[in-house]
Amino acid sequence: MSSSPKLKIAILGGGLIGPRHAQSIISNPNTTLIALVDPAPHGSQLAASLNTAHYPSLSTLLSSPHRPDAALICTPNHTHVPLALELIAAGIPVLVEKPVSTIISDGKRLIEAAKVKNVKVLVGHHRRFNPYLIAAKKEVDGGKLGRIIAVQGAWAMKKPDSYFDGIGEWRRGQSGGGTVLINLIHEIDLLQYLLGPITLVSALETIKTRGFEAEEGAAITMRFKSGVVGTFVLSDSVPSPWNFESGTGENPTIPYVEKEAGAGGFYRIMGTEGSLSVPDLKVWSNQSWLDRLQTEDLEVEKETVPFDLQIQHFYEVVREGKEPSCSAEMALSAMVVCEAIKRSMKSGEAVEINGFDIRERRCSKDCV
Ligand SMILES: *[C@@H]1O[C@H](CO)[C@@H](O)[C@H](O)[C@H]1NC(C)=O
Ligand SMILES: *[C@@H]1O[C@H](CO)[C@@H](O)[C@H](O)[C@H]1NC(C)=O
Ligand SMILES: *[C@@H]1O[C@H](CO)[C@@H](O)[C@H](O)[C@H]1NC(C)=O
Repeated sequence: MSSSPKLKIAILGGGLIGPRHAQSIISNPNTTLIALVDPAPHGSQLAASLNTAHYPSLSTLLSSPHRPDAALICTPNHTHVPLALELIAAGIPVLVEKPVSTIISDGKRLIEAAKVKNVKVLVGHHRRFNPYLIAAKKEVDGGKLGRIIAVQGAWAMKKPDSYFDGIGEWRRGQSGGGTVLINLIHEIDLLQYLLGPITLVSALETIKTRGFEAEEGAAITMRFKSGVVGTFVLSDSVPSPWNFESGTGENPTIPYVEKEAGAGGFYRIMGTEGSLSVPDLKVWSNQSWLDRLQTEDLEVEKETVPFDLQIQHFYEVVREGKEPSCSAEMALSAMVVCEAIKRSMKSGEAVEINGFDIRERRCSKDCV
């Protein structure tokens, strides 16, 4: 039996992702679902089906007897920051769904408020809890690959025409509809999780095949603060197995490509002592090109459920003082890198990233 009382968590937003989080909270003996906040008519029904209290607004929840120890924000994207600010003001730690903010300056306000009030904020980039990524991170941090020199990555798949029709029509537009902010942002978060902050990017846009404003992809070069360099190919207009969803099977709507099918990795991480491909988790090593390469298959705990691990992590952040796996700073930083990539695609220049600031690299004569 656990000695401390369960962490009482409220969920804001009963859309698609809220109920999924509710299952993780209910199934973890360390946490309990204290309330659901949703102003929509189906909110009270959903709360009843989850066997929890229902409130139409955050303010009614906060003045109720069901005041939570922590809260999850799963509401429409543009409401993330204002709700988080209200919770932070009340001293309540939050797990906010991605994107942390749709506007970089608002994200900075959230970070500042959390710092002033000393309230923990975790952002729901749950792919960091994917079992293949956990195994890769362990190998990279464990040092057996030696000094990491370079990374090669891809996110390539073909979106169906229907994705851009009807309620999806906004995805044809340039502001936020393109594959950089919709898909690449998750890749950037994972690359920074594995290899630390990105400080320089340069990108060439792919050909447009659909005739919409939104970008369909890019070839990107990047430098990390650690000195690691990388290349990444992004495309949402080609059928391919080289993407996170096909390789891990995490998204139930996108068919899983088994390791045995031989697609190889969507990431290749190369170090002085060995190289690792993800998600097949094969490590290739030996001394030099004179030697036959040795391969090792890393262990992966395939049964773990990222959402469950994330809720347990949130519990440990709130109760045990752990640092958030994905802080608001890290989440916002992935957005800043995406902005830098879009800017480079337009200007043709390399773009430097310094904290949350970006600018075209100023080249002098010694910068060839
Ligand atoms: C509950 O929390 C404790 C302490 O962090 C942890 O050891 C245990 O694994 C947690 N239970 C679950 C089901 O995650
Ligand atoms: C909100 O953010 C999610 C996660 O990044 C994204 O999938 C979704 O398209 C966004 N919704 C809108 C309407 O921008
Ligand atoms: C490493 O290379 C040496 C020399 O080619 C070879 O004898 C050895 O078998 C290789 N190690 C493995 C495990 O393949």
